[in-house]
Amino acid sequence: MYRTKTCGELRLADKGTKVTLAGWVQKVRSLGSMTFVDLRDRYGITQLVFDGTVDIGREYVIQVTGEVLERESKNPKLPTGEIEVKAENLNVLNKAQTPPFTIEEVSDGGEDLRAKYRYLDLRRAPLQRALALRHRLAQETRSYLDSKGFMEIETPYLIKSTPEGARDFVVPSRMNPGTFYALPQSPQTFKQLLMVAGYDRYFQIVRCFRDEDLRADRQPEFTQIDCEMSFVEQEDVLNTFEGMMRQMFRNAIGVDIPDPLPRMSWYDAMDNYGSDKPDIRFGMKIHDITDLAKGSGFSVFDSSEYIGAICAEGCGDYTRKQTDELTEWVKRPQVGAKGLVYIKLGAEGIKSSIDKFFTPEQLSKIADRLGAKQGDIIFILCGSKRKTQTQLGVLRIEMGNRLGLRDPKVFAPLWIVDFPLLEWSEEDGRFYAMHHPFTAPKPEHEQWFYSDRKEDLERVCANAYDFVLNGTELGGGSIRIHNADMQKRMFEVLGISEQEAEYKFGFIINAFKFGAPPHGGLAFGFDRVCALFGGQETIRDYIAFPKNNQGRDVMIDSPSKIDQAQMDELYLVSKAEC
Ligand code: AMO
Repeated sequence: MYRTKTCGELRLADKGTKVTLAGWVQKVRSLGSMTFVDLRDRYGITQLVFDGTVDIGREYVIQVTGEVLERESKNPKLPTGEIEVKAENLNVLNKAQTPPFTIEEVSDGGEDLRAKYRYLDLRRAPLQRALALRHRLAQETRSYLDSKGFMEIETPYLIKSTPEGARDFVVPSRMNPGTFYALPQSPQTFKQLLMVAGYDRYFQIVRCFRDEDLRADRQPEFTQIDCEMSFVEQEDVLNTFEGMMRQMFRNAIGVDIPDPLPRMSWYDAMDNYGSDKPDIRFGMKIHDITDLAKGSGFSVFDSSEYIGAICAEGCGDYTRKQTDELTEWVKRPQVGAKGLVYIKLGAEGIKSSIDKFFTPEQLSKIADRLGAKQGDIIFILCGSKRKTQTQLGVLRIEMGNRLGLRDPKVFAPLWIVDFPLLEWSEEDGRFYAMHHPFTAPKPEHEQWFYSDRKEDLERVCANAYDFVLNGTELGGGSIRIHNADMQKRMFEVLGISEQEAEYKFGFIINAFKFGAPPHGGLAFGFDRVCALFGGQETIRDYIAFPKNNQGRDVMIDSPSKIDQAQMDELYLVSKAEC
């Protein structure tokens, strides 16, 4: 037997017993006459004491037998901190090279180095905690959905393009020269086909693949909790998954979320927070001040469709340097504002960067609209409505960060509902589906959906919903189209020709002709759920083997070239070589 106990298990009550432990050497402290060793495994750390010196190094794998003693100097930070094991027998199971960084709670290794030796980084307690949380959440998901009658069904990975809005990863087919599979961006079409097939309630914890620019909350392969239900309306879906999230919050991290969860329409979210994923842990709402600010002779305002403002409490003493720095910040391409106007409600009265154009009374009126009081600052942006609101939304989040209003231990989930069905792209001169092309218009908006007028199509809303937590979209879904003609109309509205629709989605349009039930569902981004529950915004540490920001796995050196024979076999010629 390799061990009788784990390294996280022993307590004072075990004093005097003989145990065998096995694990990794985290630390060796030699005092000459005796040596202390921290022995680590997944369950914790136990202190070992050896007489004299021992010939072991960091990360050696050892087995030790000895007696459990009460420690003289106890360590209240460790669950095993009241005891130590007096080593009588040491067995080195495997030696180890000195690791390239310290494998402790906080490592001295940089990100790239730790990524290269991911298996060493994964030995560290924070990553072990992260993956344990992920495991717990997966179990909670399965137990909840099973209890509600959902069946876990796998869908294929080698498929045809799915329209979730990103680029596909493709896989060449050796057996069918010149053709490619696409890896699923989500199992969207398959889960709908399962509804047509009568499975009624489906779920899958499933890998999805999207070739898109990476960010802290995006990976090229990520995991969804993907779900679909038949004979449901939006209310049924929201209730079911609110219940799931409530159970996950309670059982995994001991947090009770509001019952019922708040709901906000997409329009209110955009108007008040400048985002379809508002962080409602703090106020600082956006206010429309177009009526108060336009017509003063300040040409930038006068030529704008929309003028909006936020009030940052307690920042009225911002210096010129600080407002200049924020102005530069909003002008960065990531925000894209042309400039920033401020009104300070400082000790010496109202002061603003637009004093020339506004009387103190006019500025006071603006301050009143925002509920600003002495000691606050108001930031104003202008331009086209949605763009300006979005920029104010980004500034709001930045100010929330700077003012410490975004505590990761506070959880403020909500549903965003009533999304527009379609989004007009000025650039491409066409509509895109706001969620995806299988989302149905609200029944009461159907007449606009069949209209050819752009204004009508723009006001069609969908029974589409997002689950938002602390400024992150954790999940989203919709009530689907289940009628072949309506699905065809959708492709027509999206400017997809009949032939193209037939080529890409003929199978699903066809399936709808064979008795498709009304259905709807949603998918949660499982990695995001894990990270946010763990109090982080970056999903990487909640994935055992993630990719870096360039989409590379530096540990296995992938993606990498394949040899010529393999290229030939797949009928591929590399342009990169030409
Ligand atoms: P959607 O595209 O909104 O919907 O994706 C659902 C959720 O998946 C997560 N997500 C990601 N997580 C990490 N890395 C990524 N690159 C990434 N992309 C998306 C987000 C998102 O909310 N088929 C539909 C769902 C449905 O309609 O049922 C879909 O995939 O948390």
